[in-house]
Amino acid sequence: TRKESSAASDVYKRQERTLSIIKPDGVSRGLIGDVIKHIEGRGLKIVAMKMLHLTQAQARGFYAVHRERPFFEGLTTFMSSGPAVVMVLEGDNAIARWRELMGATDYRKAAEGTIRREFATDIEKNVVHGSDAPETAAFEIGYFFNRFEILA
Ligand code: CMP
Repeated sequence: TRKESSAASDVYKRQERTLSIIKPDGVSRGLIGDVIKHIEGRGLKIVAMKMLHLTQAQARGFYAVHRERPFFEGLTTFMSSGPAVVMVLEGDNAIARWRELMGATDYRKAAEGTIRREFATDIEKNVVHGSDAPETAAFEIGYFFNRFEILA
């Protein structure tokens, strides 16, 4: 019944997956280890990971929701400027927890102890990316990984 299935989904709904990217600035500055240290140190589990160098077309597809924004061209040029590391993180409330660990998009507004506060140099070159909602997480994870590449 509907009641039973919603009760069952309540049990599991906090166990989430989110997409994380160490952006080209983070990779070129040698911050892969530091970012992973934050992730694992806070109990988020890495269940998929790969390094890739996006084409600009692939970056445009990934950030399609931002295509009308004034920063779209710069952002997709930057995201295709060098290798990036993409990961799927899993855990209770993983989407919000990873966003909290990253800190605000604008590093000047990011809280003390967050990755962007510590490492980011620019609102665009902000070291890391994280999905902002369950729907975007599903799209973003599927953009880079198939089901056999996600190791639960
Ligand atoms: P991200 O969390 O990956 O989501 C969209 C990205 O666009 C963001 O991080 C930044 O890299 C970039 N971005 C967001 N706002 C701006 C802005 N005002 N100027 C330049 N780049 C931005």
